[in-house]
Amino acid sequence: MAYLINILVIVLAAFLVKLAFISAVFYADIKAAQKRDPAAKSFLEVILLYPGLHALIYYRLAHPLYKMRLFFLARMLSQIARFSTGIEIHPGAQIGKRFFIDHGLGVVIGETAIVGDDVLLYQGSTLGGTGIVQGKRHPTIGNNVVIGAGAKVLGNIVIGDNSYIGANAVVVKDVPPNSTVVGIPGRITKQDGKKMDTDLDHARILDPIMQSIEELQDRVRNIEKNK
Ligand SMILES: CC(C)(COP(=O)(O)OP(=O)(O)OC[C@H]1O[C@@H](n2cnc3c(N)ncnc32)[C@H](O)[C@@H]1OP(=O)(O)O)[C@@H](O)C(=O)NCCC(=O)NCCS
Repeated sequence: MAYLINILVIVLAAFLVKLAFISAVFYADIKAAQKRDPAAKSFLEVILLYPGLHALIYYRLAHPLYKMRLFFLARMLSQIARFSTGIEIHPGAQIGKRFFIDHGLGVVIGETAIVGDDVLLYQGSTLGGTGIVQGKRHPTIGNNVVIGAGAKVLGNIVIGDNSYIGANAVVVKDVPPNSTVVGIPGRITKQDGKKMDTDLDHARILDPIMQSIEELQDRVRNIEKNK
């Protein structure tokens, strides 16, 4: 019996040490999760029950291994994380401070992706490539960016600081800072706090004279056909 109690005490002590270590090293990330998820009720809840934090811990261990060219070990850790959290962060990706993945399931971050500070990703979002090109083929995400649930940000593009990518958007072109992007393909609906008025988007306005000429050409073609 005393033997069993000893084992229990050792296991409990190891668990508490691990908890203290994670709290100290990942303090900023845990606080970011608490700040950005109104459902997060306590520090302990985030540490024990948030898959986004667990995937990040695995990533923070795997990334230095990747940099030491221990690719197999690094990839193994990221696959363990994927198995237990449903989040796949390639160990080669570069991720900034106070990063938070909410809910998490289905998030994929590619090898050459670069993520700034204070970025929030929702479930099902992808920072992916567009093909099988070599080199930098994943996006660069600025600081303080939110990527909505199911959004796909694809290719070697740049998402400017303080931007919002709407849920389920597919973004394949650079996005300037302070923008909101929605839809497929992603279009900017807000920039620097102002709604984009597509009626005033001169690039999309049709030339009325050209339209009249085209109408006249159609009529002439029809008359000639029916002669
Ligand atoms: C994109 C987003 C940030 C826009 O927020 P906003 O700046 O408040 O913008 P608005 O709500 O004023 O919407 C602007 C326009 O875009 C449309 N829109 C908003 N989100 C959209 C989306 N994800 N896809 C397509 N259209 C969208 C709105 O209908 C509105 O259209 P309108 O101008 O024709 O009426 C927000 O809608 C969003 O998708 N956030 C992601 C949140 C998320 O993933 N949560 C998961 C929680 S589990």
